[in-house]
Amino acid sequence: MPSHPVSYDLAEAPLAPGEVAIIGAGPGDPGLLTLRALSLIEQADCLVYDRLVSREVLALASPRARRLYVGKASRCHALPQEETNALLVRLSREGRRVVRLKGGDPYIFGRGGEEAEVLVDHGVSFRVVPGITSAQGCAAYGGFPLTHRDHAQSVTFVTGHCKGDGDLALNWASLAAPHQTTVFYMGLANAERIRSELQRHGLPAAHPVALVERGTTPEQRRVITCLGELVETIEREALTPPTLIVVGEVVRLAETLAQPAPEEAAFIEDVVLERVAL
Ligand SMILES: C[S@@+](CC[C@H](N)C(=O)[O-])C[C@H]1O[C@@H](n2cnc3c(N)ncnc32)[C@H](O)[C@@H]1O
Repeated sequence: MPSHPVSYDLAEAPLAPGEVAIIGAGPGDPGLLTLRALSLIEQADCLVYDRLVSREVLALASPRARRLYVGKASRCHALPQEETNALLVRLSREGRRVVRLKGGDPYIFGRGGEEAEVLVDHGVSFRVVPGITSAQGCAAYGGFPLTHRDHAQSVTFVTGHCKGDGDLALNWASLAAPHQTTVFYMGLANAERIRSELQRHGLPAAHPVALVERGTTPEQRRVITCLGELVETIEREALTPPTLIVVGEVVRLAETLAQPAPEEAAFIEDVVLERVAL
C-alpha cells in the first residue's frame, strides 16, 4: 500500500521531502495533464523523465528543479531499468521531492508498476497520479471513439512488443473477434505479424485501421488505412515511434468526427470570442 492516502481534495498534502510521485504526463499536449499532476510537478526538486514526456510539460516545473533524463527508445536504453530504480531510491534518501514523469499513464505499458514495487521494497513513500493514455489522446485528437454502441462493445490495449524482443504470443483469436477495438502500443516493428495473425484469425483485409504518430502534439499525423495494407502504409508514410495502431470499425467514424486542424481551431476561437464581446 502506498503510504500516501488517496485524497479527493484538489488542495491535497504537499509533496514531502523524500517522497516520490509517479505521474502520468499524458500523450504530449500539456493541456491533458491532470490538475494534481500539475500541482506536484510545480513542487518537485527533481524530475526523472522518459523520452515521451513533452518539453512543454517539463517546462512547467520550477527553473531550479533538476531534470534527469532516463528515457528509453526500443532496443536503445538510455539508462537500464535497474539504474532508474536505484536513482529514484537515492534521490528519495537525499530528501528530494521527486516526480517520476512518464508518458501517457504510468500503469499502462509504462513500467510504473515495476518502479512502485521497488519503492515499496525500499520503504520509500510514494503516490501515483494517473495520466491520459495515448490510446485515449490519439482517439480524441484523431477523430474516432474507441467504443461505440453500433461498432465496438469493448476495447483492448495490447503491447505489440514483448520484453527482450520475445515472441508476440497474444490471444489472436480473441483480438480478431468482431465488434471490438484493438489498440496496439509499440506495434510498428511487428506490424507484419499483427496483420497476418489478425487476417489468419478471420478479420478481412478491408478491416479499418488508423495509425496515429505523435498523437496530441503539433507533429501529430493520422493515417487511415486497412488491415491488408498495414505494412505498405507504414513504409510509404515512413511512420516512426511513437505510433499507435488502432484496429476496428470505429476508425470509419474518423471521416465525420475528425477535429479541425490547429489553424482552423484558432480561427474558430477568434470567431467565438468576437461573438462574446458583442
Ligand atoms: C512504452 S509505451 C508507453 C505508453 C504510455 N504509458 C501510455 O499510457 O500511453 C510507448 C508506446 O506508446 C504509444 N504512444 C505513446 N505516446 C504516443 C503518442 N503521443 N502518439 C502515439 N503513440 C503514442 C506508442 O505506441 C509508443 O510506442
